[in-house]
Amino acid sequence: PVLVVDFGAQYAQLIARRVREAGVYSEIVPHTMSAQALLAKEPAAIILSGGPSSVYAEGAPGMDAGLFEADVPVLGICYGFQIMAQALGGTVGRTGTREYGNTQARVEAGCGLFTGTPAQQAVWMSHGDAVQAAPTGFVVTASTEQTPVAAFEDRARRLYGLQWHPEVLHSEHGQAALVNFLRHEAGIAADWTPGSIIDEQVARIREQVGDAHVICGLSGGVDSSVAAALVHRAVGDQLTCIFVDHGLLRAGEREQVETDYAEGMGIRVIAVDETDRFLGALAGVTEPEAKRKIIGREFIRSFEAAQRRVVEEVGAAGGEIRFLVQGTLYPDVVESGGGDGAANIKSHHNVGGLPEDLDFELIEPLRELFKDEVRAIGRELGVPEKIVARQPFPGPGLGIRVIGEVTAENLRILRAADAIAREELSAAGLDAEIWQCPVVLLADVRSVGVQGDGRTYGHPVVLRPVSSEDAMTADWTRLPYDVLARISTRITNTVPEVNRVVLDCTSKPPGTIEWE
Ligand code: XMP
Repeated sequence: PVLVVDFGAQYAQLIARRVREAGVYSEIVPHTMSAQALLAKEPAAIILSGGPSSVYAEGAPGMDAGLFEADVPVLGICYGFQIMAQALGGTVGRTGTREYGNTQARVEAGCGLFTGTPAQQAVWMSHGDAVQAAPTGFVVTASTEQTPVAAFEDRARRLYGLQWHPEVLHSEHGQAALVNFLRHEAGIAADWTPGSIIDEQVARIREQVGDAHVICGLSGGVDSSVAAALVHRAVGDQLTCIFVDHGLLRAGEREQVETDYAEGMGIRVIAVDETDRFLGALAGVTEPEAKRKIIGREFIRSFEAAQRRVVEEVGAAGGEIRFLVQGTLYPDVVESGGGDGAANIKSHHNVGGLPEDLDFELIEPLRELFKDEVRAIGRELGVPEKIVARQPFPGPGLGIRVIGEVTAENLRILRAADAIAREELSAAGLDAEIWQCPVVLLADVRSVGVQGDGRTYGHPVVLRPVSSEDAMTADWTRLPYDVLARISTRITNTVPEVNRVVLDCTSKPPGTIEWE
């Protein structure tokens, strides 16, 4: 693999993604790994990421110079560039001026990283310290007005450095620089393609599973769908998917899952209707975290019950099922400190996430993949576009979009309003532009209105359209007024309990995407 050494900040994941976009497999590793341990992984190349530290800060992470003597191509980016300079005997200075944002770089003709790119290019910078003198043996290959040494390389030793961030789109020819490094300078073949990933995973799954039976909890979302399709490609009829209908789904969702998977993809799906169980457990509950906990707990119970049904209906060998498919993605692995361990730890609140003490061996065929790769693989596997391109929907479903008590009546009202909003957004061609648009029913709130010739005292619904890259941050989407007007008019005309439609114009932070 190409190893991306994570020096903190947000950049390592993005670099790893860009490397894969270049058709080369990459893995993120923490900077606490020794040079020896890094080299033991037999990397095809190493990229040192940017990071928030100053090389002068106390305890600032560094890199053992031995890394640069192992005849492995290395690219240092931003902080990684400065570490490289320092480790090899160059000088890094505190210039006192911060260079931040877009600037113009002049690059030298005939150097390795910038082959085929223009002499002047827009680059994105974010640094306080700067390399003042390149180490012996290196040539300086780029400069900006404020930074005379903005890139260097020693092609004989295959060592390269860039002060700017090639991984962000603001650096016009950043991807070209990465491709030059990986393919031309390091000589790595571009063989990380959806087809090759599928072949490798299929072989791996077959070996793991043998002729045993496998179950998969299907949520209807992209990850579990692609994971199921991949396992189905590997073991066919040995797979049974379980779809728990918790009664908190949107209009038509369960029917859609049943037709899409069974008819469209030939996958056996056992759908269980657990509406009564969930609504019973949620009766009288209004506190958001309490709702989430109840839904998570009941989900596990439903899943266990369904599993017993699979054993009965499919007659799994030995009366037990050992394997469970999960759609865990690489960012989840990195963020929860799994794999080789990274810095920031975040707990995931996925209702599909089953507890550890469930006695299964996990099959996680997407564990090494980013979301865009999962989509590409899904398409290659023939998963219908409407599933592959689906917007995120939270595991707890409409249960966290009814503010107040989750009753069958409140769910019916919300479902009707939500269906209209989704229909109009699709009709306006906005699905690809928005990340998702929760519709929230304020069941606890009533306001006075007038309709026909009478007074109404109904509930508001909130439209929450957001644009986002990864749901960690989001901006509210500036939907066209005419689309908002159509949604509002249709909802208030056809859902009698709703007499007001309001727009949530809050970004994240400070608001989260969901209301609960
Ligand atoms: P928030 O509300 O935290 O949502 O800004 C971020 C993204 O996560 C989705 N979401 C969930 N997804 N289980 C899920 O599978 C959950 O419990 C859950 N809560 C929020 C939300 O729809 C948004 O895309």
